[in-house]
Amino acid sequence: MKASSFFAIGALTAGVFAQEGIFETADFNITEALIVNGVNVSAIPELDSLVERSLFSGCSIACSALSTIYGSTKLLSEGTSTYDAFTSGYWSAQQGTVNPRCVFKPTTPIEVSSLVLLSRLTQCPFAVKGGGHAAFAGASSIDGGITVSMETFKKVTVSSDKKTADIGPGNRWVDVYTTLEKSSVGVVGGRMAPVGVPGLLLGGGISFFSNKLGWACDNIASYEVVTASGIVVTASATSFPDLYWALRGGGNNFGIVTNFKLNAFPLGKMWGGQRIYTENNFPAVLDAIYKFATVTSSQDTDAAQIVSFGSIAQLGKIAIVQMHYAQPVSNASVFNDFNAIQHVQSNTAVSSLADLTIKMNEGAADGLRQTQWDVSFKVNRDLFTFLINTFYTLLPDVQNLPGAFPTISIQAITAGQLKGMQKNGGNALGLDAAKGPYFIMNMSSRWKNAADDAAILKFFSTIIKQVKAEAQKKGLDNAYIYMNYASQFEDPIASYGAGNVGRLKQVSARYDPAGVFQNLHPGHFKLVKGPPNPNMP
Ligand SMILES: Cc1cc2nc3c(=O)[nH]c(=O)nc-3n(C[C@H](O)[C@H](O)[C@H](O)COP(=O)(O)OP(=O)(O)OC[C@H]3O[C@@H](n4cnc5c(N)ncnc54)[C@H](O)[C@@H]3O)c2cc1C
Ligand SMILES: *[C@@H]1O[C@H](CO)[C@@H](O)[C@H](O)[C@H]1NC(C)=O
Ligand SMILES: *[C@@H]1O[C@H](CO)[C@@H](O)[C@H](O)[C@H]1NC(C)=O
Ligand SMILES: *[C@@H]1O[C@H](CO)[C@@H](O)[C@H](O)[C@H]1NC(C)=O
Ligand SMILES: *[C@@H]1O[C@H](CO)[C@@H](O)[C@H](O)[C@H]1NC(C)=O
Repeated sequence: MKASSFFAIGALTAGVFAQEGIFETADFNITEALIVNGVNVSAIPELDSLVERSLFSGCSIACSALSTIYGSTKLLSEGTSTYDAFTSGYWSAQQGTVNPRCVFKPTTPIEVSSLVLLSRLTQCPFAVKGGGHAAFAGASSIDGGITVSMETFKKVTVSSDKKTADIGPGNRWVDVYTTLEKSSVGVVGGRMAPVGVPGLLLGGGISFFSNKLGWACDNIASYEVVTASGIVVTASATSFPDLYWALRGGGNNFGIVTNFKLNAFPLGKMWGGQRIYTENNFPAVLDAIYKFATVTSSQDTDAAQIVSFGSIAQLGKIAIVQMHYAQPVSNASVFNDFNAIQHVQSNTAVSSLADLTIKMNEGAADGLRQTQWDVSFKVNRDLFTFLINTFYTLLPDVQNLPGAFPTISIQAITAGQLKGMQKNGGNALGLDAAKGPYFIMNMSSRWKNAADDAAILKFFSTIIKQVKAEAQKKGLDNAYIYMNYASQFEDPIASYGAGNVGRLKQVSARYDPAGVFQNLHPGHFKLVKGPPNPNMP
């Protein structure tokens, strides 16, 4: 069969591909695939010269062609105020320093498809930006290439039976929840208001509801995704199930997602907020999170808890406990251990999901330098003490740097979360439920000056080395690294285990035999390349 006959997108059926088993033939012709998208390369003089060529650094050609084909309003060019506003709109200052050749804002899956094909034709690399909350430079931005902003994909539509909701990748979680509230439903998604939908869902997604339902990626009915050959497919547990599995944690390695169909559930008001405790209560706080991780989280799956440690001028060392409950009940008994500890500040209240994500984001600052790191371990009470002691011992190295606010958190991967991960064939993360519960140790800081980058990065890498060494000694180490909190020096995909990595590579070979999403889409965490930056500080 000739490659071009695959590209009648309207006529595409899962059956055809399931039988053929081939997603992109060896004689795949990009020019012909673009004709199906209504793009005639021969009619565009700049592109015409590329028809017979494959290796050419053609970003200026790609950018001007996109503008010619889809209109200048969908394209931002360097040196304009709209471009500057776009690049400074990232959460971290590091991503804002990256300068793409142009920014493309597609409005339909076909336009996304043409973008992928034009990138292949011109060999111009691209990055995809959802909510822009990945921390390091180049994660959702690209120097000299095309940054594809998904910002126009703003659909939030609840199905008539209220069992699913279509969510576009241009949304932020607060907007998703605000719209869903009108139908009295919720979805398993982010916990902080401005975070983007696609990055959180593609890396895993830890939610207030995860103890009951699993991670966000475990509660996706289907993905609409543009693959490397420009084909738009719907991947679900029954259609392209291998791709569906890979998208549950595989990040940006398989395609550009243009719609997420999320499972929805009835939701009214909830309860939650944070409480702050001083150092004298640290042992009690650690006891409480330990008990939650090992016992009480299984008794009441409506509960979610995170404990974080830092230091502020007014109070010195503090523990910040986030507690959330999926019912409008204050101080449910699952929080008894925390309720018994004297706090110095609390904002817990009955509230809507949207308002809880706004509350959780209070005090956040955009546009500063940012770094995030994480590793995971088996749950162990002594290791909790060891990790906060390590953090506070090293803290003086960085504490007084301008703008710095380093923190370290403990988040349990509870038995309930691990159970939810098994749904619909499981996810790609490689967490063995039989060996749980685990916890994620995630750390972060913001700071002001680039001159302090080295000190900050060293601080976090040293903590990880020391805590990992202790965990290894005690048999508590666990390979898994959560992609969405990982630094550029870590390799989350390798942490999924050799078996899963092999399976992910097979999926990539089937849907992307030319390696477009490995080579022309180089940012963030890749299947084959190792850490984005191999020079661990
Ligand atoms: C303040 C804050 C709060 C957070 N809270 C949580 C939380 O509660 N739970 C949790 O699990 N995580 C949380 N995170 C981590 C968060 O999940 C990641 O930062 C995530 O990458 C953000 O998604 P984004 O769309 O905003 O990011 P972006 O930077 O836009 O994208 C991240 C990655 O996704 C890729 N991508 C984006 N759109 C698409 C698409 N349409 N198709 C294919 N690939 C795409 C990008 O190329 C990039 O590789 C938080 C992060 C921050 C900064
Ligand atoms: C791709 O198709 C176009 C249009 O039919 C043709 O001109 C071109 O030679 C083909 N390219 C390759 C590499 O076969
Ligand atoms: C593409 O454009 C060229 C030049 O304008 C024209 O000769 C050709 O017929 C067009 N092809 C299609 C499929 O429309
Ligand atoms: C919940 O418990 C906290 C801590 O013990 C207490 O300060 C608060 O008043 C309680 N709230 C309600 C509504 O019972
Ligand atoms: C760890 O992740 C949680 C949830 O995303 C977040 O609330 C917390 O601030 C993070 N901790 C650190 C130290 O970044």
